[in-house]
Amino acid sequence: MHPATRLVHQGIPDRWTGAVTPPVYFVSTYAQWLGDQPPEQLHEYARSDHPTRAILEEVLAAIEEGGQWAVAFASGMAAIDAVFSLLERGDRCLIYLDVYGGTWRLAQFAYQRYGVEIQWCRTTEQLLDLARSARLIWIETPTNPLLTLLDIETIARAKGKDTILVVDNTFATPYLQSPLRWGADLVVHSATKYLGGHSDLLLGAVIGKSPQLEEAIRFWQKTRGAIPGPMECFLTLRGIRTLHLRIEKQCANALAVAQALRSHPAVERVRYPGLPDHPQHHLVHKQMNGYGGGMIAVYLRTQDTDRILSMLRQLRIWILGESLGGTESLVSHPATMTHASIPEMVRHPDITPNLIRLSCGIEAAEDLIADLHQALDTL
Ligand SMILES: Cc1ncc(COP(=O)(O)O)c(C=O)c1O
Repeated sequence: MHPATRLVHQGIPDRWTGAVTPPVYFVSTYAQWLGDQPPEQLHEYARSDHPTRAILEEVLAAIEEGGQWAVAFASGMAAIDAVFSLLERGDRCLIYLDVYGGTWRLAQFAYQRYGVEIQWCRTTEQLLDLARSARLIWIETPTNPLLTLLDIETIARAKGKDTILVVDNTFATPYLQSPLRWGADLVVHSATKYLGGHSDLLLGAVIGKSPQLEEAIRFWQKTRGAIPGPMECFLTLRGIRTLHLRIEKQCANALAVAQALRSHPAVERVRYPGLPDHPQHHLVHKQMNGYGGGMIAVYLRTQDTDRILSMLRQLRIWILGESLGGTESLVSHPATMTHASIPEMVRHPDITPNLIRLSCGIEAAEDLIADLHQALDTL
């Protein structure tokens, strides 16, 4: 079945009610005994399990190629926390330095303090050198915010027998990239972004193959209790049904915007995986189904943060804000926003004050380009 058809049909019609859109059950606890007979016991208490979440988890496992199970969380960060909870004191955890600022904060301030040896890798060579000795390897590809692509298969081949390779697939989505197919052990999503797709919810997910890892992740889901409510699960399910339409338009818009920005005099350079001059462009064809994604990194000629922020405030269509992956185009300034929690000394050296990050929405490309041009002209 083509992935687009799967995105529309997975999980429907509902096997209990026939509903053609997944039902939402606003219920916290369930009867454990009805009349003389025990009912066909499906659910007990919503923190452990609830019907709308069960449908979402089944759909997530099916759309992430190679997935045998999925576990949903209250946010992307809660999903990341559940994965780091697999680590014990003394374990070595390699993290490619170019990651979402929240991931950096959690690893650095929580898990390092618990005695996990967190090793930040600035290059793939460093990551590959240490891969065999690590208990866990954490990568994003494309990375946030620099849009570097990492070869998942090469890292999977270099890792040790017991190393857990985790790919945060938020930027690519299951429609563009299937990390489990290339040898990853776990995939993480901030479904807040492209999967939900409308900037109206927070939700996270971990998807994997091994039953042992599922058991361990579910244990943390139930124990820590950071679960998504029925409405968030429903909204994510609704978002997933249009993921292919949105992401294809977002990729087309991103390519058009990236090409148009390259020649603007206020722009120093554009980093977009879909352009042939991107250093890892070959990986777009190898592991991203030929799409460059909906995100663009733009380096401006000026380094003056105040001038850049006041230019961004001139935008009329692009919205200055955190997050990404929604239908509306967003622009952010990583050094003062998403990555501000990482001290400059240890931040990736390419996250400079002249970097802006664009999340392309589904508007008309010509409007997006005209709006960027009129704001950039003020620099
Ligand atoms: C790549 C990536 N992973 C994880 C997260 C965290 O997700 P959430 O905001 O849903 O907790 C983010 C948030 O921006 C992100 O960009």
